[in-house]
Amino acid sequence: PGSSTDAAVGLRFTPIAQQTDDAVTVPAGYLHDVVLRWGDPLFSDAPAFDPANQTEAAQLRQFGYNNDHVGLLPLNNQDEQVMVVNHEYTSEPMMFPDYDPENPTEEQVRIAWAAHGLTVVAVTGKHRGPRSGAFDAIVDHPLNRRLHVRTEFELSGPAAGSDYLRTTADPEGRTVLGTLNNCAGGLTPWGTWLTAEENFNQYFANAGAVTDPVARQRLSRYGLGSGASERKWERFDDRFDLAKEPNEANRFGWIVEVDPFDPTSTPKKRTALGRFKHEAATIRLAADGRAVAYMGDDERFDYLYKFVSRDRYRQGDAAHNATLLDNGTLYVARLTGDSPATEIDGTGTLPADGEFDGAGEWIPLVTGNVSHVPGMTAEEVLIFTRQAGDAVGATKMDRPEDVEPSPRTGTVYVALTNNTRRTAAQAHEANPRGNNKHGHVLELEETGADAAAATFAWRILLLCGDPEDPSTYFAGFDKSQVSPISCPDNLAFDDHGNLWISTDGQPGTLGTNDALYGVAVAGKRRGEVRQFLAVPHGGETCGPVVTDKRVLVAVQHPGEIDGASYENPLSHWPDGGTSIPRPSIVVAYRADGKTIGQA
Ligand code: FEO
Ligand code: CA
Ligand code: CA
Ligand code: CA
Repeated sequence: PGSSTDAAVGLRFTPIAQQTDDAVTVPAGYLHDVVLRWGDPLFSDAPAFDPANQTEAAQLRQFGYNNDHVGLLPLNNQDEQVMVVNHEYTSEPMMFPDYDPENPTEEQVRIAWAAHGLTVVAVTGKHRGPRSGAFDAIVDHPLNRRLHVRTEFELSGPAAGSDYLRTTADPEGRTVLGTLNNCAGGLTPWGTWLTAEENFNQYFANAGAVTDPVARQRLSRYGLGSGASERKWERFDDRFDLAKEPNEANRFGWIVEVDPFDPTSTPKKRTALGRFKHEAATIRLAADGRAVAYMGDDERFDYLYKFVSRDRYRQGDAAHNATLLDNGTLYVARLTGDSPATEIDGTGTLPADGEFDGAGEWIPLVTGNVSHVPGMTAEEVLIFTRQAGDAVGATKMDRPEDVEPSPRTGTVYVALTNNTRRTAAQAHEANPRGNNKHGHVLELEETGADAAAATFAWRILLLCGDPEDPSTYFAGFDKSQVSPISCPDNLAFDDHGNLWISTDGQPGTLGTNDALYGVAVAGKRRGEVRQFLAVPHGGETCGPVVTDKRVLVAVQHPGEIDGASYENPLSHWPDGGTSIPRPSIVVAYRADGKTIGQA
């Protein structure tokens, strides 16, 4: 990559090289600190972290495992904020001494329930000498909160109360215990947090006991399997056994809205936004003030969605804004290329018009209680949304992860992380590579720059990989000047309009650590990818949040490498010595206290 001063404003740092160390790496002139680790106390009554003797009671008062989404909401100023964090899943063999995957103990299962879910925690700048960007948790802050697998959540919107959502414990179909596999998320203009339930299927056992063919098909479309679940939770709570509670799995796979400023509030599972393996939801206001949520379903050959609210956002009216995501229309995307199909050969070679690009339409699936899908009721469209997408011929994508509109331009960016199952024959202009192991990033322009538009134009911004690989594309930018990047997952924007991309999978594709990159999306440097940070080997880079003075990332599953266990840790980050690895939030900042990416 070129010299720091040539880069786009906000990306003027010296890019780091690809890394393989058991460490976080940042550019020259930057520092980093750990903000919170798995097991750190959120309340002063939490015992000191002791992984050899962890308990459910301790975990309920401590920061959870495998942090993923990170959001910052304003509290008092730049140095005192509310941080919200997802805890996607647990890695039991790395968490517990002598863990027997065939026979977990009840206490281990209860610890895992407490280590899943969500954290709300106030953080404050430390100002300890030159470490001007460091952040510390404010233990016992009144907004601090843990939500987990035993916390009460409310189903809201048009499918709430549906027969498909009723169980023995909840005959009304409106109250669910817990949130599961919360991956990424987003913040709303009205000050709430959206968190996405992704691979919920892994927690449920015995889908094979369901014999009705329609019900079976619905379970299998969501990947719910026969036999025992990986974690065996069904042994300690019947609701995880589909033979006993066939509807419980329908109560997961939603976008959840949390009010971080009211620690007594019951979070809402917003059924109007559909049920699938939600990666995230991000909000943009339409030209007329309606709220638009962009969403991806992270599965090979699954779909890209948006929701448009019926009502308009009203600044300052929290009670009204809390209803926006209960009423509206859910759409799924169909993308059409503008080059002849014969020019898309699956190798990533550009078609004759010089771009992978075309037109798209948002196909309406359901508006409130009115279905637009023949043969499906509105509640079926909302609860079995994947089948609705199948029925209308939505475009099968290469694993849609974050879908993020630029706050500055409204242009929407879609991370398509990878899809090695796509064959060259299945390649089309929007997913143009067979065996797409490095993934790509798509750019959508809504018609009239209106987020509520029914149509859009699209083009591919990046075909990821090592720039020496001829199948890569960096928006036409000089490939000799870009950093290798693979498996784009989470997206964020800085105040200058640059796109930041974190990755999930580089150890397997490039042989190097997952990382965070800044990318110029406008001007002469458009397509220039610059690596800012790398996480320890075996970890995934999540988050990210880029502010004026700080870059936050979630280091998820550090040291999760084949053969790793509590007894055989393959990472000792962040505590060093012979310690087991701990998923943690990291903040990076300039040693001289200046703005991120300023020359
Ligand atoms: Fe949990 Fe789609 O990554
Ligand atoms: Ca084209
Ligand atoms: Ca993700
Ligand atoms: Ca991922």
